[in-house]
Amino acid sequence: MTALDDITGQLRQLEEEARCDLAAAPVSEHPVVRARYLGKKSPLNAILRGLKDLPEDQRRVVGSLANETRDRLTALFEAEATTGTTAAPAVRPYDHTLPGRPHPRGHRHLLTRTMDEVIAIFYGMGFEIAEGPEIETDYYNFAALNFPPDHPARDMQDTFFINNEYLLRTHTSPVQVRVFENRRPPVRILAPGRVYRHEAINARSYCVFHQVEGFFVDVDVSFADLKGVLVAFVQEFFGSEARLRFRPSFFPFTEPSTEVDMSCLLCGGKGCTLCKHEGWLEILGAGMIDPAVFAAVDYDPKVFSGYAFGMGIERIALLKHGIDDIRLFYENDLRFLQQF
Ligand code: PHE
Repeated sequence: MTALDDITGQLRQLEEEARCDLAAAPVSEHPVVRARYLGKKSPLNAILRGLKDLPEDQRRVVGSLANETRDRLTALFEAEATTGTTAAPAVRPYDHTLPGRPHPRGHRHLLTRTMDEVIAIFYGMGFEIAEGPEIETDYYNFAALNFPPDHPARDMQDTFFINNEYLLRTHTSPVQVRVFENRRPPVRILAPGRVYRHEAINARSYCVFHQVEGFFVDVDVSFADLKGVLVAFVQEFFGSEARLRFRPSFFPFTEPSTEVDMSCLLCGGKGCTLCKHEGWLEILGAGMIDPAVFAAVDYDPKVFSGYAFGMGIERIALLKHGIDDIRLFYENDLRFLQQF
């Protein structure tokens, strides 16, 4: 770099800094800023005074550049002094005629909305809300729910084990036990949450999904109470045309046990891929709480009885909105999400 380039660069930088300093300084400081850039001790003045030591050809070029810089800065400070607003480009005046910037608005995920609707309906029927941990122990997920060790019933729910002690809960039923340990009947609870299963992923099953567990323990609770509350729920949630079908089933923690199917709203019961051409779709498991569960939490089964059910949130969301693949809930494809 030549001495000429060097001085030219310095001048450009000085001018730039002066504009910025002026823009940033409060009005009361403006005379100080002016002295800093145009005063006797300013670097610009030093350059002007050094002109006489430069070779003839450079003196003319640098001289005119330095004088131009001085003139522009003088004009800048003068303008500032008369108008009180800086002409420096660093500050852009606010243009209130510009159109506003749009803020795109999101909305709750369909699963969250479905969950909230379910909670609201059961809350209206007198259920309290409770939650339990997603990382559970074998005791709460299995043993206290009357799954004997090494019993094949444990295979009903392929489990993600974390280590020998902890696992990802395969259902929301462990919340029953956690609540019973801390409360005496009557208890009427709804426990929503996420559950995990080590399953093959397809249109109807995913490795993570949501359940709501409902249970009611008091004196004289019967299977008729269970049916009543479930029918009331589906007719509120799906409309009065919704039908339920109770099939006998088995769960270690309920006796008798049932699996409950809902008439497929997608095909109106005629049969489609969603309902595997059966016209019905399983939405929950339920039953009367087994006395063995009560024994583990010190409830007297001669005094108390209760029902429990566990419903799949994805299933009822699929049914209600005519969606034919559970994986869509987890892919976060906006083209899907924005429809709801
Ligand atoms: N926990 C069972 C499941 O996930 C469902 C269930 C809940 C069955 C409560 C009976 C009572 O398959």
